[in-house]
Amino acid sequence: MCGIVGVTGNDNAVSILLEGLEKLEYRGYDSAGIYVNDLNGNDYLVKRKGRISELEAAVGPEVHGSVGIGHTRWATHGVVSVDNAHPQYSEDHRFYLVHNGVIENYKELKAKYLSNTTFTSQTDTEVVVQLVDRFVQTEGMTTKEAFLKTLSLLEGSSYAFLLIDSTDPETLYVAKNKSPLLIGVGDGCNVVCSDALAMLNVTHDFLELHDGEVVTIKPDSVDIEDRDGHKVQRDTFHVDMDAQETDKGPYPYYMLKEIDEQPNVMRKLASLYTEESGKPNVDSQLINAMKEADRLYIVGAGTSYHAGLVGKKLFEKLAHVPTEVHIASEFAYDNPLLSKKPFFIFLSQSGETADSREVLVNVNANNYESLTITNVENSTLFREATYTMLLHAGPEISVASTKAYTAQIGVEAILAKALGEAKEQTIAEEFDIRQQLGLVATGMQAIIDEKDVIDDLAKKYFVPANRAFYIGRGIDQTVSLESALKLKEISYVQAEGFASGELKHGTIALIEEGTPVVGIITQKRTANLTRSNLQETESRGAATFTIVRKGLAEEDDTLIIPDVNELITPLLSVVPAQLIAYYTSLNKGLDVDRPRNLAKSVTVE
Ligand code: F6R
Repeated sequence: MCGIVGVTGNDNAVSILLEGLEKLEYRGYDSAGIYVNDLNGNDYLVKRKGRISELEAAVGPEVHGSVGIGHTRWATHGVVSVDNAHPQYSEDHRFYLVHNGVIENYKELKAKYLSNTTFTSQTDTEVVVQLVDRFVQTEGMTTKEAFLKTLSLLEGSSYAFLLIDSTDPETLYVAKNKSPLLIGVGDGCNVVCSDALAMLNVTHDFLELHDGEVVTIKPDSVDIEDRDGHKVQRDTFHVDMDAQETDKGPYPYYMLKEIDEQPNVMRKLASLYTEESGKPNVDSQLINAMKEADRLYIVGAGTSYHAGLVGKKLFEKLAHVPTEVHIASEFAYDNPLLSKKPFFIFLSQSGETADSREVLVNVNANNYESLTITNVENSTLFREATYTMLLHAGPEISVASTKAYTAQIGVEAILAKALGEAKEQTIAEEFDIRQQLGLVATGMQAIIDEKDVIDDLAKKYFVPANRAFYIGRGIDQTVSLESALKLKEISYVQAEGFASGELKHGTIALIEEGTPVVGIITQKRTANLTRSNLQETESRGAATFTIVRKGLAEEDDTLIIPDVNELITPLLSVVPAQLIAYYTSLNKGLDVDRPRNLAKSVTVE
């Protein structure tokens, strides 16, 4: 949700900024811009609507410098336009600013302090840069004083700011509240980025920032101050990842690469979180804390919420602990009644989702214990929870989440097994998760190897469709929600996931000649029921398909997935649905990895 980059002290500032923005494009891609200064009195501002490639094409050879800032935007305030793209600048072109977040009281500030200022954009960000300028010009403040004063006026806002003063361009000013931002420490040069991925070509050593901190950065120094102005000493952390890990390799789209990576992710989880004997290898303090809880509360958004719905089944069946699953944005403002001894589990691929973070802030304020399960080490939710478990799925770049969903379920299954064993539940003791994850990995590979069949299916039935349904019961219903989300977000086919028995209570009215309806059938107890619900739609003209576990398969079934324990079938049943979504989008000629209106990391509420 908007990506920020900055650099000071490197003559390749332009390529560092552009490469960094390319890596951050997943955070928003409606417009982008850079401001660069060569410290010899020349500076350049280039902004474009559209993708980073449009910006790159517009940056001519004359644009050069050793310091600069850049931004890729996901619009919140103001339409998508060059004027609204960042960097935003002050009326006199002295200050340039990029911003990720939302300034809640920007209208009041504009009316109070800037009634005579000429604005070029509709953004909340421009108010901030104009305010800095105003305080410098009219109150004789230094840039830093003006920046601090401006920050003190931003009520309840979320921001990651990167400011440059063109009269002292070597210095970058940074401030952070709620929105993520990191400082990268290089050799004679320092960088700023929303995500370490953006700067791995420059450095692997980063400094995390905490809310309320303000940082002054020069080529050879980084000075962090807390919200009371006290100097903060902080060690860097090392990011052990190759810049190549984020490349697409031979794949046309990241999504296909990430679908293909799932078998390996399953194997990795098995080897990292279980012992050869099959025993889970999970932090014993975490298991003790969970054991003391009388109820688990799983919190997530989108696909992570859907992974949480599977988690509920796992924790209730294997560990016998009541579990609630909540949509983060609802939980944050609904004040749900909590049990006497709650334990919170946050699921988040990025570890930065603002809705989830809002809940975690409240959880911490009430001294409840929590676990974050995330793909990103040192992300905000990682840092702020009591316990953490990493997904080890490798960077997920495509906006549509695939391997993070299956990794989340894999980790939940290991955790539920560990908790169940600690609670001496026979079902957990008998559940060989290590062996099961091995079967899942092989099963995923078998499905992926058949992708041409799914490509044909997508072309024939899903590309021409306006709407589609996935249906199932119990754990299959949770996968139907995720399957529908995948299809709609990248192919724009209106899709719904449904409890199959519920369809006839109203929604079946939407079935028309040729409407695709996919039944997910992996549970013995409910297989026949879902089959008859599918029949009901077929009698009304639907084009019906099945994703069926092998042990339950019948002659006419469409896609048969290998047998695994019924508790973890989502790990397999979701894969054909991911591929249906992928091929529908591809065959419609859409940008699979960058669907319209979306951004991968949603850092505004
Ligand atoms: C859908 C998707 C989103 C995310 C959601 C939460 O494919 O990726 O629904 O799952 O925005 O993001 P994280 O998991 O980063 O908290």
